[in-house]
Amino acid sequence: MSVSETIKILALAGDGIGPEVVGAALAVLDHVVRTEGLPLEVEEDLLGGACWDRYGTFCRDETVEQARRADAVLVGAVGGPKWEGLEIEGGPEQKDGLTRLRKELDVFAGLRPARAYPALLDRVPLKPDVVTGADVMVVRELCAGLYFGTPRGIERGADGILRGTDANLYTAPEIERIARIAFELAGRRRGVLASVDKANVMESGVLWRRIVTELGAEAYPDVALTHYYADHAAYQLMREPRTFDVVLGDNLFADILSDQAAVFAGSLGMLPSASLTRLAQPGARSKPGIYEPVHGSAPDIAGRGIANPLGTILSLAMMFDHGLARPDIARRIEESVERVLSDGVLTPDLGGNAGTAEATRATIAAYG
Ligand code: IPM
Ligand code: MG
Repeated sequence: MSVSETIKILALAGDGIGPEVVGAALAVLDHVVRTEGLPLEVEEDLLGGACWDRYGTFCRDETVEQARRADAVLVGAVGGPKWEGLEIEGGPEQKDGLTRLRKELDVFAGLRPARAYPALLDRVPLKPDVVTGADVMVVRELCAGLYFGTPRGIERGADGILRGTDANLYTAPEIERIARIAFELAGRRRGVLASVDKANVMESGVLWRRIVTELGAEAYPDVALTHYYADHAAYQLMREPRTFDVVLGDNLFADILSDQAAVFAGSLGMLPSASLTRLAQPGARSKPGIYEPVHGSAPDIAGRGIANPLGTILSLAMMFDHGLARPDIARRIEESVERVLSDGVLTPDLGGNAGTAEATRATIAAYG
């Protein structure tokens, strides 16, 4: 991007610790753009419960439009006990603001990287010789599958018994487009792709496996593809995380596996994500994109100033990589985070007693 072009970011802090971690990431972003001489404009809006309380919806049409216009969208976290019991008419997009935003922007490609940080190895409940060097990219399909499939709902049958239904619906093009992203990423990394399904019990899994296999044979013969049943992938991911490079899964399985992969990163608070409509060539910009930590709104620690901001700060790095085509800045942010960890400025989830503000200041200082 040229120096004079203003970067437009939409920040949607959301609920719980969302405002704290997004506040931290915006402070880092402010420092980064000053240091690098980039013109930046940040707009803020409400998402999730905070939006519900003000407007009676979890995500407004205006916010979707703003997100379409932005160069990148930074999200904190949504939801909390306050909004869980609400009976809301409609589908998943009406019931969850983030789900609506993902679907409206069609950011079907969720990139969720997890790495074992040398400075955090003693925080990981797995043996260091199992975890050292683990570096996995979970690729999650975000706009189809169980989150959106129909039929769906809770109904009372003629026998008077209540039934809850969800459908893990996938079309061949929906599988192919996410598989393509995973193969491309594997090609840029170590060339190893693990595709996850339950083809032994699910029809959607049979189709998933068929499409992934065909695409691999046709277009990506150099990527080593292995299929795993989802349960076995969960087991192997903990037993031998280093054997994995890119892990491809549907909306549900990869949601679960991305939290699980956070185990070897030392804390769920460390994991960033990028949700994209396409994978731009390195150095080109992908838009729209949502950048957010993988963790939730953590209502138990909200407002206490102790949330780990590093997952959101690392999401900022993914924003510079994919949304703003500045991999140089992305690397510098990642190196700053590593420096914070090796200097021992750790929030309580990592076993330390630094607050959000202290970890943020340390990241800014490390950036230089
Ligand atoms: C995630 C979260 C969301 C999801 C929730 C908050 C709807 O768990 O981004 O992983 O299930 O997709
Ligand atoms: Mg999740």
